[in-house]
Parts: sequence; structure tokens; C-alpha cells
Amino acid sequence: MNPDMRITLTQFLIEERRRFPGASGDFNSLLLNVALCCKRIARKVAAGALGGVLGGAGAVNVQGESQQKLDLISNTLFIEGNNWGGYLAGMASEEMDAPYQIPDCYPRGRYLLLFDPLDGSSNIDVNVSVGSIFSVLRAPETEQPVTEQDFLQSGTRQVAAGYAIYGPTTMLVLTVGNGVNGFTLCPQLGEFMLTHPRLSVPADTSEFAINASNSRFWEEPVKRYVNECMAGRTGSRGRDFNMRWIASMVAEAHRILMRGGVFLYPRDSKDSRMPGRLRLLYEANPIGFVMEQAGGRASTGRQPVMDVAPSSLHQRIGLIFGSRHEVELIERYHNAPPPMDLPEPLFCERSLFRTPA
Ligand code: F6P
Repeated sequence: MNPDMRITLTQFLIEERRRFPGASGDFNSLLLNVALCCKRIARKVAAGALGGVLGGAGAVNVQGESQQKLDLISNTLFIEGNNWGGYLAGMASEEMDAPYQIPDCYPRGRYLLLFDPLDGSSNIDVNVSVGSIFSVLRAPETEQPVTEQDFLQSGTRQVAAGYAIYGPTTMLVLTVGNGVNGFTLCPQLGEFMLTHPRLSVPADTSEFAINASNSRFWEEPVKRYVNECMAGRTGSRGRDFNMRWIASMVAEAHRILMRGGVFLYPRDSKDSRMPGRLRLLYEANPIGFVMEQAGGRASTGRQPVMDVAPSSLHQRIGLIFGSRHEVELIERYHNAPPPMDLPEPLFCERSLFRTPA
């Protein structure tokens, strides 16, 4: 294709909408405004120290984490970029304790928007890729103010999800439940252009990502999986593995979409108040939707993450996603009886639970 004639995000969404003749256009307006928020955030991130946006904001969010200036700026950009459009009934963000109500001066819409306005914010000040993650759900059909309960829908009910990555190039990766497409921000036109159509995660990989400093807190199935990867070609996997850890989930998800891999931030025993690190509704579910739509898998280790019935807005969860065969193997390890309850032979090289070749 002539690179000057690549299709824009707007054209892509209009063509998608033609498949639904009854659609009002609200859904497309929502996605285009989310994309505009991401462009604005990209500008702030790119300005860095010159924009006076680096460093802490001196505040702590509902999760007890220090907020960076860019966390708050990005949150405001998401709120103000979407509250006026008439397509939303409410919003929820990592940076806000309670759901955001659409002001009375604007019409109420049919969707709910959930987002992590700036994921990986520990990386902002060191100039490493960060991103924004978003998830779209249907709102209940009522005129009442939105409640936390309205947002507690399983990931399978998402109607759109995606992320923007602010790296060497800014990209938007989107699913509307019909595959995954990647758009690169053209600095000249200020438009997201379709550069990565129909993304697909390879089913096999020899690359994994985990914060190994937590290894003493991991559960046995995770220890077993990582040990086997580390043993490389001399171990039961029979091949060498490579390891990566960026500490920016969006960047890890993007790498996995581009070339395969598996990401683990599993449930662990580091802090008994936190059954996992990542937030279910605006981190795990949208990334899970993208992965599954690209042919990958996303799991808690015990069940598909999108099947989890949420219990609270800022709920945390163990998350494992990426290349299908690796995630399935890790699930098998979780669902196998714990090794200590089993006679040794079940776990030796020729055993029932031997790693598939
Ligand atoms: O808030 C989530 C997050 O920033 C992810 O983007 C990232 O994968 C993770 O936290 C990093 O956590 P840690 O600092 O424990 O490696």
C-alpha cells in the first residue's frame, strides 16, 4: 500500500461501524475522543523535563501509591476529554477513589469508560516507555447516578479495550471485539494511522517477563514454571529462554503482541492485603481482551482473567498473559495438585505432568 494513503483511525472506525447499520456513532465518538486524550498525553510525556511535568505530585492515590504529576495530568485529560460527549454515563480511573459522575450540564450516554491514565508511572522520570489503558463497558439503562456496582462487570462484557504506548513512537492498539489493530501516531498529520492490522500473538515463545525480585513470595506453580525456563536447554523444557522486565505493563504487552512472550505478575504472598499487583478492571481486563482477540491468552493462573466476577472497583489480581501455549502450561501447573501432596514420580522427567515438548 502507498504509505501516504494508509487509513486513519477515523476511517477504520467508520468502516467498522458500517457492519452495524443501527449504530448511532456514539461508540466511534467515544473511541476517537479516547484517542485524542492519548495524543494529548503523548505530547506531555514527550515534553518531559521541558514541560515541567516530571516528578511526584505530593499526593497518594486510593491504592496508597505516590502519584506522579503526569498521573494527575493524564487523569484530568481523560476526564475532560470525555465528560462532555454525551456517550458516557460515568468513568472510573486508577487515580480516583470513586466513580466519576457526568456533570448535569452534559447528556448522559450508554457507556462506561474505565482507565489507567498513565501505566508504568515509575518509568516516567527515567524516560522509559509508559502508556494509557482503557476499557469500555455498557452502562445500565437508568437515569440514576452511576455506582461502583455498575462497573463491576466481568471482562467478557467489554465492548472495546486497548492501550496507547508512549515510546519511540506513540501507538494506539485497539480491539472492538473483532481482532486487534495497531495505529501509529503520524507526527506530521497528528493522526493515528493503521500500521499494524490484525495483530496476532505467536502461540509459542521462548521469552518470559516477571519481576524476579519477588521470587521468594511466588506460589509453587510459578516457581516451577520459572525454574524450568531458567534451566534452559539442560532442563525439562529443552530450550533456552530469554527474560525481560520493563516494569511498564503496557510496554510488556506491546512487545508480546509484536513478537510473542509471556508476562507474569502472579498472585504472591508479598503483602497479604494485595492478592496481586495489577488492577482487574482497568489493567488486567483490557489487556486480557486485547491478548485474547489477538489469539493469545490472559489468565489469573487458575481461570481466564475475563471470567473473574469483580468484587470492587480497585480490585487487584494475579495476571499472566501472552503466547497461548505458555499461558496454558502455567494454568496446568496451577490446576495440578500441589507437588508436596503427590508422590515424587509424578513430577519427574517421564511423568504424567511432564512439560509438553
Ligand atoms: O501499576 C502497574 C505497574 O506499573 C505495571 O505497569 C508494571 O508491570 C508493574 O506495575 C511493575 O511493578 P514492579 O515495580 O513491582 O515491578
